[in-house]
Amino acid sequence: MTDQEAYWEAFFTLHQGLPREGPGSDAATRRALKLLPALPPRPRVADMGCGPGRQSLVLAAELGVPILALDLHQPFLDQLRAAAQERGLTHLIQIRRADMADPGLAPGSLDLLWAEGSIFILGWARGLGLWRPLLGPGGLLVASELTWLSPDPPAEAREFLQAAYPAMTDLAGNLALAQGQGYQVLGHFPLENRAWWDEYLGPLNERAQGLAGQAQADPALAQVLAENQQEITVWRRHGASFGYVFYLLRRLT
Ligand SMILES: C[S@@+](CC[C@H](N)C(=O)[O-])C[C@H]1O[C@@H](n2cnc3c(N)ncnc32)[C@H](O)[C@@H]1O
Repeated sequence: MTDQEAYWEAFFTLHQGLPREGPGSDAATRRALKLLPALPPRPRVADMGCGPGRQSLVLAAELGVPILALDLHQPFLDQLRAAAQERGLTHLIQIRRADMADPGLAPGSLDLLWAEGSIFILGWARGLGLWRPLLGPGGLLVASELTWLSPDPPAEAREFLQAAYPAMTDLAGNLALAQGQGYQVLGHFPLENRAWWDEYLGPLNERAQGLAGQAQADPALAQVLAENQQEITVWRRHGASFGYVFYLLRRLT
């Protein structure tokens, strides 16, 4: 196994079985949905980079239409399938293992494209550009994106996040990029700060603690746990200076 393969195996050892793969909450998903203008009677909806799919389940329950839940990592999709079964939503969750940069969807085939905590993988502007043609005229896009909330973030937060996500910018920057990619901005709101801990970092931290012993004999896992600890420390110290913002956008023309 290469070092790279060992790293990713360790990463997914840490990340397996968590309720979410990024900060978020059912309440925030519902809030974003409620802020949208009326959807067509049977909206065609995709959830890009769905991970274990908490937001896919909320979308299915609230909208009562099939949600195409798309991710590359099969164990997350299996987790979503099991959760859908538990909630009696199997008939509304369509799982697809695919690359969200090339999801195999026809142009204009979506009324609503959802992406919580996943567009950063493509990059905000690139992701918006790639996904725009998938939306029909007036189609809607909701994405949560890591955003600077303070005009002058502490150096420790800046260094950590610039290394992790060099293109990260602030609210005004993200809005301008969205408009530049051919979207009208319908609204935006920040994810509540406690959703970081309650729904993501807390469960992740618990799992990391359970793996500490195993990491003593596994350098890749030790590295993943150290990086994870650094993310938690940066959030604890400087979490007020950055956060996820939900952006509600409509395809122009
Ligand atoms: C930060 S997680 C967010 C997951 C989920 N939306 C949530 O909030 O729990 C990003 C997700 O994108 C998936 N992913 C990464 N690259 C991808 C790609 N090129 N195409 C599809 N999914 C991808 C990962 O497997 C992961 O589930």
